[in-house]
Amino acid sequence: LTKQDWQGKRLLITAGGTREALDPVRYLSNRSSGKMGYALAQVAQQHGAVVTLISANVTLPTPPGVQLVRVQTAREMETQLHRFFPETDVLLMAAAVSDFRPQQTASQKIKKTAANAELTLHLQANHDLLQEMGTKKQPQQLVVGFAAETQNLRENAMKKLHQKRVDLIVLNDVSNPQIGFNGDNNQVTIIGADGFKEQTPVEAKTKIAERILTVVKKKLP
Ligand code: PMT
Repeated sequence: LTKQDWQGKRLLITAGGTREALDPVRYLSNRSSGKMGYALAQVAQQHGAVVTLISANVTLPTPPGVQLVRVQTAREMETQLHRFFPETDVLLMAAAVSDFRPQQTASQKIKKTAANAELTLHLQANHDLLQEMGTKKQPQQLVVGFAAETQNLRENAMKKLHQKRVDLIVLNDVSNPQIGFNGDNNQVTIIGADGFKEQTPVEAKTKIAERILTVVKKKLP
């Protein structure tokens, strides 16, 4: 990538893990730190892109020159995606979005009583945000999804690629604790709807970000 490679292109990137409230003090979430999404934002900005970063519950410093939009829940992320996507050339969906949210959020802290040795939570599916954007995508736009998998990696990633109508999917084997969630390193397989495939070595997330952005650049309409 050269300094000019992303000049003037508008990138929308999501990072972190959404939180779905159970009550005023508890939530359902996942192990995403936001490092992968923030690395993409930083590298894209350094190569000339205009970057908006929708960040869910991340504590990392904001990369210089990047527009940061904070959200907590999947529904808040959905609102912000709908707001920014129409002006976007490329969407990179690195966030770990909760598939489910509690059907009800208790207005008071849920109490432990002698009666509830067990507690049943009723969950409701969140919308699939990537699929919504994949469906809205215009011919000049490119949508890149991620797939965090623990088994049948390629098969599951291919399903997501097609179901969510994305151009590229970045497969992350999250059963390996050395890569994926939270660490500074990652290893991914980039798979294109056009049959493209590239597996990266284990490298710093900023290096992985450079590789992803190099592939995406070549696929730009
Ligand atoms: O943040 P880090 O600690 O650096 O970790 C990076 C990462 C492992 C979180 C990242 O590389 C990654 O794999 N992100 C995707 C995590 C995920 O939620 O994967 P998924 O296979 O469950 O979802 C597939 C795709 O659909 C993702 O692009 C996801 O953003 C999107 N999705 C999922 C559910 C949903 N309701 N809406 C969505 O848009």
